Amino acid sequence: MSGQHHMSHDHGAHVHSHHGSFDHEPAAAVRELYRDAYQEAQPDAGRKVVAVELEAREADWAVAPGAVVRAWTFNGQVPGPVIEGRVGDVLEVRLTNRLPEPTAVHWHGMRLPAPMDGTEMVQQLVQPGESFTYRFKLLDAGTFWYHPHVNETVQLERGLYGALIVRGDDEPVLDREQVLVLDDLKLDRKGRIAKFGGFVQWHDGREGDARLVNGSVEPTLSIAAGQIERWRVVNAASARYVRLSIGGAQFRILGTDGGLLEAPVAVNEVLLAPGDRVDLAVGPFAEGGELAVQALRYSRMTIKRRADERFATLRVGPAKVSTAVVPERLRVIEPLAPSTATPNRTVNFGIKLSLRRGIDFVVNGERHNVDAPAKIGELQVWDVVNSTLMDHPFHLHGYFFQVLSVNGEPPAFRSWEDVVNLPPKSTTRIAWIPDGRPGSWMYHCHILEHHAAGMMGHFDVVR
Ligand code: C2O
Ligand code: CU
Repeated sequence: MSGQHHMSHDHGAHVHSHHGSFDHEPAAAVRELYRDAYQEAQPDAGRKVVAVELEAREADWAVAPGAVVRAWTFNGQVPGPVIEGRVGDVLEVRLTNRLPEPTAVHWHGMRLPAPMDGTEMVQQLVQPGESFTYRFKLLDAGTFWYHPHVNETVQLERGLYGALIVRGDDEPVLDREQVLVLDDLKLDRKGRIAKFGGFVQWHDGREGDARLVNGSVEPTLSIAAGQIERWRVVNAASARYVRLSIGGAQFRILGTDGGLLEAPVAVNEVLLAPGDRVDLAVGPFAEGGELAVQALRYSRMTIKRRADERFATLRVGPAKVSTAVVPERLRVIEPLAPSTATPNRTVNFGIKLSLRRGIDFVVNGERHNVDAPAKIGELQVWDVVNSTLMDHPFHLHGYFFQVLSVNGEPPAFRSWEDVVNLPPKSTTRIAWIPDGRPGSWMYHCHILEHHAAGMMGHFDVVR
């Protein structure tokens, strides 16, 4: 690889202009790392290989009765199939691309070896007609998701995303579980997926007025009176923030991106930035009730004006016996560092005026910033600064972090995260440890239009 390597490949919305020493095309060494990672992924004793076929292909998608859009799907459905495994299993997914353009699948939130991360930095893109197999061990229980990491603004909007659930041995046992994948869709007047582009979409990120739960516009969900359910909620929208409310009722947060909290947290609402997940204990409710599952008004300083928005209706059906137990303590999360720990890096999410595009979304002043390597075993304390006037969800690939403070204040509870919202003009201090898994990694804004615009950083994890 040359030291000064300039390129400008164009994959739809991706325009890269790198000045670093990494190459767009994985080198032979990367293919070797892939083979090693593939072979090293072996299930624990008593656990198994979960084999899944994912075919990315065009299909009809009924978003509402009588409303069918032409979508890009995994296995003909939106969301793609819920993939489930247990800690200690190996997940082996053969992706076959039947789309008219290249793709690759990112396993959002998974602590996996770099060659399995599904980005164009670590693998050859999967061309139309080709297949690629991801194989990695499931290390952590939690609610994760998968989505392409190529031309994301288009591929996710058209329907390519799905939930990935990893179960542990010590999970709370509730009455029932529901997976709720939230999304929105921008349709034109003829009910087709609207054209992409334009300044508002570039600035705000793309939001549509069709609000979806598991691929359906404002569906009716049900719960039995008296029961407590576990809801695994994923925000798969390109840019929409969901300040989730369940009819104003109280519910308990059991877990976030990286699995269970230390103890349930009772709230009446929870904010999910794009990419975020929460696990909730929902209920019990009295029979006959009807609750609005909605996103409360949340101003993230967009051009678009905000209001409360319904995602679904929850109907409370006839009572059933409950055997649910929500434990007082869920697990112990050891703090990685005190909130006063001295940061060893600053990552600055900002904007820059651009003659060509009006506004550029940048990290440390540059699109596709090349950041310093992080050494395995060395505690990372990063000040993630948002110097803009709007919110941005910061997402780190491959590792969970703890939020130490936001503008100097400790967060309400300790947790493991891979997405954290950066409020306008703020500093969020995070801590994480490169626990192995050398290679090429990244962090970026999970508003997909900002991500595509270059609001990201690339860095290596090195020995
Ligand atoms: Cu879910 Cu690089 O992202
Ligand atoms: Cu952003």
